Amino acid sequence: MRLKIIGSAAGGGFPQWNCNYRLSRAARTGMAGVHSRTQSSIAASVDGAGWVLFNASPDIRQQIAQTPELQPAQDAPLRSTPIRAVLLTNADVDHVAGLLSLRERQPFAIYATTQVLATLEANSIFNVLDPALVPRRTLPPAEELAICDADGLNTGVTVESFAVPGKIALYLEERSRPDANFRSDAGDTIGVRIGSAGSRGSVFYIPGCARIDAALRTRLADAACVLFDGTVYTDDEMIAAGVGQKTGARMGHLAMSGDDGSIAGLAELRIGRRVFVHINNTNPVLDENSAEHAAVKAAGWEVARDGMEMEF
Ligand code: MLT
Ligand code: MN
Repeated sequence: MRLKIIGSAAGGGFPQWNCNYRLSRAARTGMAGVHSRTQSSIAASVDGAGWVLFNASPDIRQQIAQTPELQPAQDAPLRSTPIRAVLLTNADVDHVAGLLSLRERQPFAIYATTQVLATLEANSIFNVLDPALVPRRTLPPAEELAICDADGLNTGVTVESFAVPGKIALYLEERSRPDANFRSDAGDTIGVRIGSAGSRGSVFYIPGCARIDAALRTRLADAACVLFDGTVYTDDEMIAAGVGQKTGARMGHLAMSGDDGSIAGLAELRIGRRVFVHINNTNPVLDENSAEHAAVKAAGWEVARDGMEMEF
């Protein structure tokens, strides 16, 4: 199985359109060791011809332009795409807005939890994807499932989805309760184990996670690869940077560093490859010359870049 990280930044991307923080500025000026990144999405394929996307980011048009594998094949019909299906790990803007760019009466399948499908259903703009052409399929929890295209043809990619501690989408929060934490453990946010009949070991994709609990630790115990929520390095990073009022925890993302962070939380597990994805534009690891980047590498983690490819 081939896996491509087509977007390694969190919501907003890197640089973010309206951000003048030092990191976005460095990315804009092309500073050495600071690379621009598009918003959160990966793609998987068994045969190299048909691809399954995990999340559809607002940058999907750019991501397709940067990824020849996701473009119509030269000898394909006048309208065609190698994208057979899109699986959504939550209903956040950075994970669903790209669906709107996949209109034009093109068949593919959408997979998501009941909650996420209900959010698409409640927002009529998603009707640009006619359900007769773009079926919406519910992901059964804790069950291995073959991902199929719109016609039911098996892509060869299998997934097992599981709820992780997270949060409902920002735009679903009640404005009347700004101090609530809107925590959710019930499938508003999921992780997925991605596999195929011929693949070696388990690959996990978890771009949003609020806490590492015993269940998650058990699940990831001897994974071949974990692509994990790398939104912030420290919980109060956005506040310290002066760009926002929210902690990582308030946004449903645990920090990389600290006793409760992801580096410490997964340190004891026998994971083959650890890769941070969904990296926010305030995270100092985006600067390859930073002490934080060095610390993450020393702890055995990689910091994803757009276009990173792996095979299992
Ligand atoms: C998140 O990951 O917390 C969201 O993508 C934030 C957002 O909606 O911008
Ligand atoms: Mn996000």
